[in-house]
Amino acid sequence: MKMQNVGILGIGSALPDKIVTNVDLEKIVDTNDEWIRTRTGICERRVAAEGEHTSDLGARAAQKALDDAGILVDEVDLIIVATVTPDTPMPSAACHVQAKIGATRAAAFDLSAGCTGFVYGLAAGSQFVATGVYKRVLVIGAEVLSRILDWTDRSTCVLFGDGAGAVVLGPREEEGMLSFKLGSDGSTTNLLHVPAGGSCLPTTAQTVEDRLHYVKMNGNEIFKFAVRAIGEVTQEALDAAGVDKKDLDLLVPHQANWRIIEAARKRFDVPEDRVVVNIDRYGNMSSASIPVALDEAYRSGRLNRGDLLALVGFGAGLTWGAAVLRY
Ligand code: ACO
Repeated sequence: MKMQNVGILGIGSALPDKIVTNVDLEKIVDTNDEWIRTRTGICERRVAAEGEHTSDLGARAAQKALDDAGILVDEVDLIIVATVTPDTPMPSAACHVQAKIGATRAAAFDLSAGCTGFVYGLAAGSQFVATGVYKRVLVIGAEVLSRILDWTDRSTCVLFGDGAGAVVLGPREEEGMLSFKLGSDGSTTNLLHVPAGGSCLPTTAQTVEDRLHYVKMNGNEIFKFAVRAIGEVTQEALDAAGVDKKDLDLLVPHQANWRIIEAARKRFDVPEDRVVVNIDRYGNMSSASIPVALDEAYRSGRLNRGDLLALVGFGAGLTWGAAVLRY
C-alpha cells in the first residue's frame, strides 16, 4: 500500500464567552489570586454558559478549521473528538458535532486519552489519511470541564477551563506528519480520575452525596511525571522523525501548569520564544489545550507554512504522547 503524506489543512478554535478570574474564585473557595498565579501561571479561564455543551464548542472550532482549509462540510469523511467530557455518556460527542455542522457523509467517534487526547487523535486520524482510506478528517479536542469540577475543592477547581480546538487533516504533496510517540501507564489510573458514573461505580444517590462524580487528582505526582515526560517523549518523536531539536520552530505543550512547562523547557533545553504558552488566559482545557494554543500561534503569525512543530501532551491514564510535523 502506498502511504500518503498527511498535512494539517486548516486550524480553528472556539472558547466560551464567560471569563472567570482568580478574583472571582476567591468568592467561591478559600483561595487567592497570588496563590493561583504563582503556583500555576493561571490568571483566568473560560467557563461554558448554561446549555453550551462540549459539542457546541467542538462544532464551532471544527467549522473554523474547515473555513480555514477552504473545505466544505460535505467533504468531511471522519470526525474524531478527543474529550473526557462528552455531552452524554452515549452516544459520542463526535456524533453531536456531526449533526451540528451537518457533515452528513462523515463517520464519527470519540477518543478518551485525558489531556493527551488531541495528540492521540492526531495520530489516529493521520492513519486514515496516510493509508488513503479517508481524505478529510476532522480532529477536535473539546472539553467542558467546568461540569465535572468540584467547585468546593480549591485544589482542583482553580486549575481547569472550557474550550475547543480543531484541525482538518488531509493528503498533500509535501511532508506533513513526521512521527508520533504515544504511551500509557494504567497502573496510575488513580492519580487523576472521576471515580463514579461508569460501570465501576454507577450513579446512585450515595455517589452523588459523596461527590464522586468530580475530578480527583494527586497534583504533586502528576507534576513530577509531567516535567520528565514532556522532554522524553518529545525527544523520542524527534528521533523517530530524524530531525534535530535545534531545528524546532515551535513546541506546543499541554497547558496544565506554567511551572511544569517552564521546568520541562529548561530540562529539555529549548529557548523560551519557541514554546507556546497560553495557560494564563485559559487554564488547563485538557484535550483542547494543545489545539487552542496551536490556533493562537497560527492566527498571531507565530506558526507559518513549512515550520517544524512538536506537540506534546500528558494526562489522565496516565498517558503521554508527542507528534512531530512540518506545518
Ligand atoms: N488556593 C490556595 N491554597 C491552595 C490551593 C488553592 N487553590 N490549592 C491548594 N492549596 C494549598 C494546599 O492545601 C497546601 O496547603 P498546606 O501546605 O497547608 O497543606 C498548599 O497550598 C500547597 O499545596 P501543594 O499541592 O503542595 O501545591 P503545589 O505547589 O504542588 O501545586 C498543583 C499544586 C498546582 C496542583 C500542582 O501540583 C500541579 O499543577 N500539578 C499538576 C497537575 C496537572 O497537571 N493536572 C492535570 C494533568 S492533565 C489531565 O489529564 C487533565
